[in-house]
Amino acid sequence: MLPDVLPRPDAISPEVYRARRAALMRQLPANAAVLLPGASLVTRSHDSEFPFRQNSDFYYLTGITEPDALLVLLPGAKGSGEGDEDVNGESILFCQERDPTLEAWTGRRLGAEGVVREHGLDQAFENGERDERLRELLQGREQLYVPLVSADAVALAEDAYQQAKAGQRRGQAAVRGWQDISPLIHEMRLIKSAQEIEVLRHAAAISARAHCRAMRAAAPGLFEYQLQAELEHEFMWQGGSGPAYSTIVGGGANGCVLHYIENSAVLKAGELVLIDAGAEFDLYAGDITRTFPVSGTFSAAQRAVYEVVLKAQARAVAAVKPGNTLFDIHQGVVRDLTSGLITLGLLEGDVDARIEDESYRRFYLHSTSHWLGLDVHDVGTYRLDPDTPRPLSPGMALTVEPGLYIPTDDDIPAEYRGIAVRIEDDVVVTESSHEVLTADVPKQVADIEALMAKK
Ligand code: GLY
Ligand code: MN
Ligand code: MN
Repeated sequence: MLPDVLPRPDAISPEVYRARRAALMRQLPANAAVLLPGASLVTRSHDSEFPFRQNSDFYYLTGITEPDALLVLLPGAKGSGEGDEDVNGESILFCQERDPTLEAWTGRRLGAEGVVREHGLDQAFENGERDERLRELLQGREQLYVPLVSADAVALAEDAYQQAKAGQRRGQAAVRGWQDISPLIHEMRLIKSAQEIEVLRHAAAISARAHCRAMRAAAPGLFEYQLQAELEHEFMWQGGSGPAYSTIVGGGANGCVLHYIENSAVLKAGELVLIDAGAEFDLYAGDITRTFPVSGTFSAAQRAVYEVVLKAQARAVAAVKPGNTLFDIHQGVVRDLTSGLITLGLLEGDVDARIEDESYRRFYLHSTSHWLGLDVHDVGTYRLDPDTPRPLSPGMALTVEPGLYIPTDDDIPAEYRGIAVRIEDDVVVTESSHEVLTADVPKQVADIEALMAKK
C-alpha cells in the first residue's frame, strides 16, 4: 500500500445492478420495454475526445463504463436472475463490437460475451445487430419507456413506432407510444443504499483531504490555478477520476462569482480565497466549499462575515433530519444570514421586513442545498407537488452551503467590499438525524488558522 492512501470501499457488485434493474421493471407494466442509451464520446478538439463519462442513469442500472451502449429492459420476460424470474424481467445490452485493431489504440472492449460474463446481463449483442434484434425484442411491447432528454432514445422509440404501424394494421400488439423513464430511475437514485453511502463517504473523504492540502499550500503570490492543482493532485492520488465538477478557486472578490472557474488570478495577502471543489470516485461526487485567508489569519471584517455564515451553516446542518424539508432549512438560513447582515450594518431595519422585501438577495442569491450522488446536483424532485416541499428521509444525500457575497459597490463599507464566504458540507440523512461526510476539513476560524500555521 502506498503511503497516505485512504482505503477504498468495495466495488458495487453486478448483483446490486441486477437488483436495481429488477426493482425498476417491477414498477412497469408487463407489455412495456425500456430503452436507455449510455453516453458517447464527445470531441474535444480535432480527433481527440474528452475523457469518457458514463451517463449516470445508465451507470446506476449497469455499472458499465463503455461508450455507445444501449440497455433494453423487458419487464415480465424471463430473466436469468435468482428468484421469481417472471417478475425480474430481462436485461439486454447492445455494446461496441470487439475490434482488435481499434482495441490496440483505445483499449479493451468488453464485447457481448464480456458484458454477460462480467456484468450479469441476461443477453448482449454488438451494436451492428441492434436494429434487427430490437425489432424482434420489441414484438408485443406496446409502451416504450425512454429518457425523453435523450434525442437518441426518442429517435429509437420513434423508429420502433413507425415500424409497428404495419404490425398494428395486422392486429398484432405493437408499440403505441412512449413516455419518460427518467422520473422512476431518479426516485430510486434519490435514496442511497448503505453501499452507495460508503462510496459517497469515500468521495467526501478524498475531497476533504484535498481541501486540507490546499489550505496548507496557500500563500500570497500563488495563482488560483496552483491551488486547483493541489486539489486535483489529491483527487487523483487517492484514486478519484478527477474533479466531479469544474474546480472553483476564487481569491478576493472572484469568490463572489458563484461559478468562477477561470482560476487565473494571483492570490493576495489580506484576501480570502473561496474554494469549491469535490472529487469524483466511482462516479459519485464530493462537493465541499471552504473559505480561508490567503495568508493564514482572518481580518476582523472577514471574520465577522465568516462567523455569520458559519453559524447559519451549523444551524442548517443540525436541521437535517427525517421529516424536515430543504425549504424549511433554506428559510432558516435566510433568516440567520439576514439577521447577520443587519448586525454587520450591511442591511438596515427589521429582519422580517428585509426577508419580505428580499433585500438579502443582494448578498445571498442561491439556495442552500441540492441532492448529491452520481451527479453533483443529483436527480430527484424537491417537491411532492408544486406546493409541497418533500420531507427528508433516511438515505437522502445533500449539501448544505450558505454563503454571503458582498459586492464592491461604493455604498458598501470599505472593509467589507469584495468579501465572499461560502461553507459547504455533504450530509446524509440517517434514521433519526444525519451524518456529515466532510467533517474532516476544518471550518472553525481557530481550526483553519491552526492548520494553516502548521505548514
Ligand atoms: N459546486 C457546485 C455546487 O456547490 O453546487
Ligand atoms: Mn460546491
Ligand atoms: Mn454544492
